[in-house]
Amino acid sequence: MIPTAAALADLAARFRHFAAVECTQDPLYVALCLAVADSPEMLALLAEAPKTQAHPNLLLAALHERVLAGVAHPLASYYPSVGGQRMPDAELPAVLLDFARRERVSLVAHLRTRSTQTNEIGRCAVLWPALQHIAASTGKPELALFDFGSSAGLNLGVDDYRYRYLRAKGCFEAGALAAAQRPLIECQWLGSAPPLSVGDWRLVERIGADPAAIDVQDAHARRWLAACLWPHDRERAARLQQALALAQQRPRRVLQADDCLDALEDWLHELPSGLQPIVFNSWVLHYLDPSALAQMRQRLAALMQQGDLVWLSAEAPQLRPAGLELPDLAEGATASTLWTLQWAESGALQQRALAWSHPHGRWLQWLA
Ligand SMILES: C[S@@+](CC[C@H](N)C(=O)[O-])C[C@H]1O[C@@H](n2cnc3c(N)ncnc32)[C@H](O)[C@@H]1O
Repeated sequence: MIPTAAALADLAARFRHFAAVECTQDPLYVALCLAVADSPEMLALLAEAPKTQAHPNLLLAALHERVLAGVAHPLASYYPSVGGQRMPDAELPAVLLDFARRERVSLVAHLRTRSTQTNEIGRCAVLWPALQHIAASTGKPELALFDFGSSAGLNLGVDDYRYRYLRAKGCFEAGALAAAQRPLIECQWLGSAPPLSVGDWRLVERIGADPAAIDVQDAHARRWLAACLWPHDRERAARLQQALALAQQRPRRVLQADDCLDALEDWLHELPSGLQPIVFNSWVLHYLDPSALAQMRQRLAALMQQGDLVWLSAEAPQLRPAGLELPDLAEGATASTLWTLQWAESGALQQRALAWSHPHGRWLQWLA
């Protein structure tokens, strides 16, 4: 179907907004967005995506995937992710259009079937002390983790990674022992003292579930995950590759589940007794429409009241539990991810804020 002039104008506005607000750190993406906004032919390409998915990010990821796939074309010389060093210039729009014409079949296939998807292990820098906190406060050191919306399940490897926390004075390390090819996650620790010396804990059971689960053994799926990262961020990309390589060696169970709450209930029924069950979600709730989100809150409240399930949620602050006051942010930090805990005590639901953090775990402000 040929998009109307109004639809193209709407798409062009989205690309200009993305360039001006969302991807300002990436000069290539700024230039690509402006080039697309000026080209009805490029805009029409994104119109191939389902309406709910037609975001600039999706076209950028589809183009990046083709570049990572090794397509030999001058466009690759602009992408730092494949060693390109050419800065955006006046030729870029024409080079982009030529690339898109040649790769049209693959691009359209991606746009029609894929959604942008990431799996950010930087969040484990907060997940690690959060698990420590849960073990210490429940008195149950043997933990069972259910990652709701787990993508490839890389955050299930939280105890496979090494952490270096930087404080105002000095730093300290935690997590798995340092080893070659083991992801090292650096995180600036703000706020109150770390809970890392309190007791010990062990992940005894772990599982992920996702309606679009990524199979780490599938090279195409891995490449799509890498394509959804921005081409200039080499550190994040290298860490993703390390985590994927580790996950290929130590596969974690990730269920492909249309209803992850059904999967959670089944899993809870089968858990050995004595373990502390935790359901965890990070940057997932904004995918749920309001009625699905309300239903999720209701079902999880019932599960917490029936048993000893703890709900650890790391989401945008507007998705925090109802009635929870927004905690103060450390000076200089900008509100991003709020980590909250919910559980039941004598049948009554309890909640608290645990930490603020950068969305990819570059810093955390411990609140507990
Ligand atoms: C931004 S990614 C975050 C992935 C992972 N939690 C992380 O922190 O890296 C969002 C994930 O939520 C999943 N998702 C979307 N709708 C969902 C739903 N209704 N239930 C569970 N997961 C969902 C997506 O497939 C995607 O893998």
